[in-house]
Amino acid sequence: MEGGPCLRGFSVSEVVLITGASTGIGKAAALHFHQRGWRVAATMRSPEKCDWAPQDERFLLVPLDVTDTDSIAAGLAQVLERWAEVDVLINNAGYGLVGPFEGTDPEQVRRQFETNVFGLMNVTRALLPHFRQKRRGAILNVSSVGGRVTFPLYSCYHSTKWAVEGFSESLQFELKPFNIKVKLIEPGAIKTEFYDRSQDRVDAPDYQPFYDKTMDRLQKAGHNAPGPELVAQTLWNAATDNSWKLRYPVNSADVLWFRKLAPEGFFRAFIGWYLMRK
Ligand SMILES: NC(=O)c1ccc[n+]([C@@H]2O[C@H](COP(=O)([O-])OP(=O)(O)OC[C@H]3O[C@@H](n4cnc5c(N)ncnc54)[C@H](OP(=O)(O)O)[C@@H]3O)[C@@H](O)[C@H]2O)c1
Repeated sequence: MEGGPCLRGFSVSEVVLITGASTGIGKAAALHFHQRGWRVAATMRSPEKCDWAPQDERFLLVPLDVTDTDSIAAGLAQVLERWAEVDVLINNAGYGLVGPFEGTDPEQVRRQFETNVFGLMNVTRALLPHFRQKRRGAILNVSSVGGRVTFPLYSCYHSTKWAVEGFSESLQFELKPFNIKVKLIEPGAIKTEFYDRSQDRVDAPDYQPFYDKTMDRLQKAGHNAPGPELVAQTLWNAATDNSWKLRYPVNSADVLWFRKLAPEGFFRAFIGWYLMRK
């Protein structure tokens, strides 16, 4: 089976389980996969608030909080009871703790890691016995361009996404013998709730004068960015392209190329000037 295509031997209607599907990228992915005939387990913390779910037997709303292992087990059990299988896991749930590190408290930082890193690991661990038993599966981890490069005021968020990158790179080696694919989706700025409702913002008056301007530039990048359907299309490609490719940039190829080609000092000086200039 090693090296086999992602979908070889899959049934007509594959099953995708998506975390954090209430809004943004997770919601767009849920609708995208459903429109293409897949069975979709759209997991979210508060499914009772969801008013957009397609009403048919190929769409299942599942309560799941990635920071709660009991909730993960119950959510997965519900999906397996309904469809007996999962083919693709999309680890998407996440948010940004944003602002000067000095202004954060340890509990905020812990919560950031509990969601973006340990939550992703816990959902992955819960699904691995199932994927190994089938000797087939794919894990698509929604990382970020911020898992490869850094910007000011995002130190905690970057730490989590760099952790997701290292975790996924290593995991790809050890799961390949079981024909389980691990892939990284690396969006640049995408217009979602990430820049509004979901953001955990730390204010720090002592970090004037650059704080307001830098934050403003970063927020504008998000508000002027393309919508989450772009990422949904990339997730679809990653799930169905039958490759062992590791990384899928989305709206981030330019900055990643610049990072690769430019000397590190030059790249960082440019980012500093561009985002923190007066
Ligand atoms: N937007 C961007 O520019 C961008 C760029 C790069 C990477 N990303 C990544 O893309 C992913 C999705 O973000 P988004 O842009 O679509 O933002 P979003 O619209 O805010 O969606 C975030 C989702 O994560 C969920 N979530 C948060 N904590 C959770 C938890 N403990 N358990 C389960 N779900 C939880 C939220 O659920 P609730 O509705 O319950 O809060 C929401 O569904 C994140 O991992 C983010 O880091 C985003």
